[in-house]
Amino acid sequence: MLHRKLMFFSSAMLVAITWAVMASVQPDAAQPTSNNAQQEQCADCHSEVVDVFKQHAHAGLNCSQCHPNALAHQNADDPTEVLPVVDFRSETCGSCHKFQYDTYMTSEPGTAGEFGGTPADPKEHPKTKDFPLYNKIVAGHGFTREYNEDRAHRYILRDHIDIKRGKNLACLNCKSTHVAYYWGKEWKGLELTTDGDVVAKWQEAIKRIPQEMQDYGVSCAHCHNPHSTQLQIINKGLINAIERRGVNPYWKERNAPSFAKADKQQKEILLCAQCHVEYVCGPGADKKARFDFSWRKARDLHDYYMERHKYQQDWVHEIIGEPLIKSQHPEVETFWESKYERAGASCVTCHMPKVNVNGRWLTSHWLVSPLRYIDKYVKGDRLGAYPCGQCHNISPQNLREQVLRVQRHVNEAQKRVQQALSDSIDAISAAKQAKAGGRTINDEQLQKAIRLHQLAHVRWENLVVSENSMGFHNPEEVMKELNEAMDYARQAQLLAMQAVR
Ligand code: HEC
Ligand code: HEC
Ligand code: HEC
Ligand code: HEC
Ligand code: HEC
Ligand code: HEC
Ligand code: HEC
Repeated sequence: MLHRKLMFFSSAMLVAITWAVMASVQPDAAQPTSNNAQQEQCADCHSEVVDVFKQHAHAGLNCSQCHPNALAHQNADDPTEVLPVVDFRSETCGSCHKFQYDTYMTSEPGTAGEFGGTPADPKEHPKTKDFPLYNKIVAGHGFTREYNEDRAHRYILRDHIDIKRGKNLACLNCKSTHVAYYWGKEWKGLELTTDGDVVAKWQEAIKRIPQEMQDYGVSCAHCHNPHSTQLQIINKGLINAIERRGVNPYWKERNAPSFAKADKQQKEILLCAQCHVEYVCGPGADKKARFDFSWRKARDLHDYYMERHKYQQDWVHEIIGEPLIKSQHPEVETFWESKYERAGASCVTCHMPKVNVNGRWLTSHWLVSPLRYIDKYVKGDRLGAYPCGQCHNISPQNLREQVLRVQRHVNEAQKRVQQALSDSIDAISAAKQAKAGGRTINDEQLQKAIRLHQLAHVRWENLVVSENSMGFHNPEEVMKELNEAMDYARQAQLLAMQAVR
């Protein structure tokens, strides 16, 4: 300890000397420059930030450590002319929080169960492997060009850049902390809104993201306020949704009006809700760009999109010529009302377990299938954890097998719905062709069939294809909705066939 103190002292001296010699040069962001602290008079103009800062764990840091150029900014005649850098790089936080940084950047390819896992190359595991009729059911949508199983957080931006399907500026809210943080404002001369050419703006934004962040894009500030060190959310789509409907519209007793007023469990769900939800981003069937969190369960999406976006938010199906919903990744909405949520678990409970690091319990930031943690735990590997043990007193091996049993059950059910949707597409398209060929058909019945197909489609596509746990997060709800989807799709098929007779 004494040794470290000495080291610190001498390096501070060294910096002081170098500083005196190169008075006009800006200090290096990573150096603890104690003389900066004396020169920093940020409170004159940023008293809110400084007040918060002083009361929390980072009080001992200098502002310039994360805001290079801040002194020049402070001392400028017009501080807005010399804006300091806002350093979003995870590496900066990682220089003091090694464990959290290292685990956040972990990406070990490997399988978990039969449906999850982290492919070495996303192309290894296209979604069509689990859902062979997918490209027919979403015909004409960009996702048919390429749609793969997800990889670790350290490749969030890389995988987005590399994938073939269309991209636009709004997508970057979940791929780049810069874009999410400055959304609605101007960032380096670029207006971060859905106005104008959102595809060209996507390219412009990518160019502005620092080289070091071109793979992971999303950094610590997405979940941690760098000044208070407390948890935070920055995604404006989510913040707006909370303003409209609260933090959890499906649980009255826990529904708070803002992130700040939410309890710990809900906060921990909201961190992930910045991205692991259903939303609409980019140009829809009517070419209009949107950025809207529906903040609703699958069963409520049909009516909401009809009312709010006239069902134009996504695309028109190529075979049946009707608009359908294409979901994103609604883990949070699916998790709502689940037995796990009722029992007090959040996403963090299972996906960010506490691990013992040299006698301290720290939070693992390797965001991955819990089965990977369980497998490591069983082998006694580093980063092994059994977070389920808080509520289950059976062996990890046994519980793991039960997870697979739940998922296989859901998978069998979804296969039947998949077939039913495909058949209903054929029937609707045959009816439309008959009509185009001059036959009189019962239009009212055809319209009913289309509506039922839409209701079946959103349930299957949202809850088992786009949602990534193959039913695990809420098997009761997923099975119930799949049963309804089955009924709707078969009714749609029958009505469309009868419409022609
Ligand atoms: C004389 C007033 C003044 C002082 C002193 C001052 N700032 Fe600022 N600062 C401003 C103004 C004005 C802005 C622009 C605010 C805006 O655009 O909303 C700004 C913006 C910033 C930003 C935001 C940059 C961005 O791109 O979003 C940071 C970070 C910042 N200041 C840090 C500091 C730090 C650190 C210090 C102390 C070393 C400091 N400021 C001292 C007036 C000041
Ligand atoms: C550990 C790194 C770190 C330190 C230390 C730090 N900041 Fe920041 N600051 C950031 C990051 C990252 C952002 C943008 C993200 C955010 O605010 O969530 C930011 C944003 C800002 C902003 C712009 C928006 C706002 O929050 O009002 C100002 C002003 C600012 N910082 C001032 C300061 C001042 C003054 C200090 C010292 C008292 C300081 N910062 C210390 C990392 C840091
Ligand atoms: C120069 C070193 C340094 C840097 C850089 C730094 N921190 Fe810290 N941080 C600390 C210290 C020291 C503490 C308090 C002691 C501890 O908890 O280990 C702390 C505490 C924390 C805590 C825990 C707070 C609590 O109440 O338990 C979080 C979260 C945190 N930092 C996040 C960040 C993030 C995010 C960044 C980057 C934006 C960052 N830190 C950058 C030194 C640093
Ligand atoms: C997806 C959200 C998320 C991101 C991104 C994130 N963290 Fe965390 N972090 C958490 C949560 C949740 C906790 C646990 C908080 C608690 O237990 O109260 C945590 C805890 C911490 C702590 C407190 C000590 C501990 O281990 O419990 C530190 C320090 C920390 N994070 C640093 C970082 C750093 C550095 C980064 C970026 C490399 C980062 N975090 C990125 C969610 C996040
Ligand atoms: C800023 C957006 C964002 C936030 C916040 C976020 N995620 Fe993710 N997450 C993603 C994206 C995007 C992917 C897919 C990455 C890819 O394909 O490369 C992903 C992938 C994952 C995966 C799969 C990893 C794998 O190895 O297959 C898990 C598990 C996960 N996230 C859990 C969480 C949890 C739990 C939280 C909250 C504590 C969270 N994420 C917060 C965007 C986010
Ligand atoms: C009770 C524990 C538990 C909770 C709580 C939980 N999950 Fe999961 N999650 C799992 C399991 C188990 C899987 C299936 C993993 C597999 O198939 O390998 C999974 C799968 C996932 C996946 C896909 C992982 C992959 O490898 O592709 C993501 C993403 C995810 N969860 C995000 C979340 C989010 C976001 C929340 C909070 C809304 C959450 N989870 C809450 C246990 C949990
Ligand atoms: C906060 C408490 C809590 C945690 C943590 C938790 N579970 Fe559970 N789990 C429950 C409850 C409650 C049930 C339902 C028990 C019942 O129905 O009697 C359950 C049931 C299950 C079932 C049976 C489900 C079915 O439909 O057959 C499996 C499998 C399961 N959990 C796996 C896991 C795994 C894997 C983890 C860790 C990644 C985990 N659980 C973590 C509370 C929890």
